[in-house]
Amino acid sequence: SQHTHGPLAIVLYHTQDYVAANPTRCVLLALLSAPLLAIFFNVLKQLVIPKDPSLPPEVFYWLPLIGSAIQYGNDPLKFFFQCREKYGDVFTFVLFGRKITVALGDKGNNFVLGGKHTSFSAKDAYTHLTTPVFGKGVVYDVPHEVFMGQKKMAKVGLSVDNLRSYVGMIEDEVEEFLGSDSNFLVSQENDNQDWGCFDVTEVMSQITILTASRTLQGKEVRECLDKSFSELYNDLDGGFTPLNFMFPNLPLDSYRRRDRAQQKMSQFYVEIITKRRRGNLSAERDMIAALMEQKYRDGSFMRDHEIAHLMIAILMAGQHTSSATSSWALLHVAHDQNIQKALYEEQVKYFGTGEGQFRSVTYDELRQLPIVNSVIRETLRMHPPLHSLIRKVCEDVPVPPTLSSPSGGGTYIVPKGHYALSSPSVSQMDPLVWLKPNDFDPSRWLDPNDTAAKAFCVYSDEMGDKVDYGFGAVSKGTDSPYQPFGAGRHRCIGEQFAYLQLGTIISIIIRKFKLQLEVDRVPDHNYHVSFFETLRFPPPTLLYYEDYDSGA
Ligand code: HEM
Repeated sequence: SQHTHGPLAIVLYHTQDYVAANPTRCVLLALLSAPLLAIFFNVLKQLVIPKDPSLPPEVFYWLPLIGSAIQYGNDPLKFFFQCREKYGDVFTFVLFGRKITVALGDKGNNFVLGGKHTSFSAKDAYTHLTTPVFGKGVVYDVPHEVFMGQKKMAKVGLSVDNLRSYVGMIEDEVEEFLGSDSNFLVSQENDNQDWGCFDVTEVMSQITILTASRTLQGKEVRECLDKSFSELYNDLDGGFTPLNFMFPNLPLDSYRRRDRAQQKMSQFYVEIITKRRRGNLSAERDMIAALMEQKYRDGSFMRDHEIAHLMIAILMAGQHTSSATSSWALLHVAHDQNIQKALYEEQVKYFGTGEGQFRSVTYDELRQLPIVNSVIRETLRMHPPLHSLIRKVCEDVPVPPTLSSPSGGGTYIVPKGHYALSSPSVSQMDPLVWLKPNDFDPSRWLDPNDTAAKAFCVYSDEMGDKVDYGFGAVSKGTDSPYQPFGAGRHRCIGEQFAYLQLGTIISIIIRKFKLQLEVDRVPDHNYHVSFFETLRFPPPTLLYYEDYDSGA
């Protein structure tokens, strides 16, 4: 039969023989060659199958499913800039089987963040990650309009009157911490020691949670900030890893700890609310009080578990963002002694009472301080805590002609089912927009003719065009190249609080300590813990300090 059926039959005949004689070897061979074959067909598919000209260009990738996850995960900024060179401002890459269409630059920011929520949904992009951590009934677990109502209620807790009352509390917390934490006792007790040192990210993380809990979270939370609260916080935080983004639920210990912590934390807040309702605790001027007083548009109050879960969301939203920003700011200030000197002189000029003594800061004065605010703005330009803002594409969306120029002369379509990604990091570090973008230069914010000042005008709530997305009028800011707090309907509500918290913390530290870096360079970003955050846990970085008071 070999002769009658030709060469293919001969090959098959011998193959069958070989398999029958060496079954184990053949299974091994098949197992080893399967991934290679998968790679081969994946590459072939990309090179051979003609592209649909209406789709954005796709970034070439070797590994099926994994796609460009390694390049994106290692250094998203470098990856985006390289892709822009090759494909333009709009392109699609594969991230663990998902198609992510990136739109870069101020026009790209406007396209994604200024889009309709029925086209680009934050809820559908984030809910599987956030709902297990925050809990049900809030944020991305509810329809868009309901969440906008919740943002509006939370904004009451961030009113100017509340912010005014928070400054003194933040000042007290920072001074108490610096006066009692073991990192800072060394130099006060030991006259022979010239410089003390502390791990800046660790210390900033503690100061951030202390100051946020004393102000926004309320006195009951502040009083309970013990080891068990920190453990609950850490377990919840462990629910925000790349693995959680890929798989909302896995039978792993970290997932179980996340779920247990969510329940306990929720119960903890509900108990505070119940006690306050019974009148056992005096009403405070904090976020819980604000949420208990406010009503939805239909006249109903928020239910206790909703308040509890929104409080968890607010705790998580403000912690890494603020503590990473203050860490980066201090690293830059310690690196550049001229900036540090200018900051100190600003404190003396505005608050000095002679002989190295200072009076308290007020909210209205803090807002006017040129140097400290420029340092914060410049820190957020170079190190925005969130480098990728993501939406799920819910219907086919045409890309504006100014952003896309496919060969056919029409416009690209971002198809339903893709994710859309806007990156403030790219537009904030773009050499086409900013002069010397890699230089940390707060003075760019003080020059009214600089790009920075113009970008800030478009972005700032005081100067930009206002829109009400359902949580009060805010500056639209979607087409600004500077948007560290996002833009459009999902814009951050914590911006003013963050400036106040950061400004007060930096002011108090600068008054007390002279800072110096351990090595002569500011460390690089660490992108490895979270997909979207610029710096979650930077490498432990020591800052050396000299206490002006003790003369150490
Ligand atoms: C949204 C950044 C502090 C509460 C956002 C977004 C960014 C951001 C980029 C937009 C997310 C998106 O479009 O996908 C920051 C930075 C902070 C900070 C850089 C500090 C330096 C805070 C604080 C709070 C807070 C202190 C709470 C008081 C929120 C809320 C949203 C938000 C409620 C709205 C989310 C939405 O509408 O989808 N923030 N944030 N943030 N942030 Fe912040």
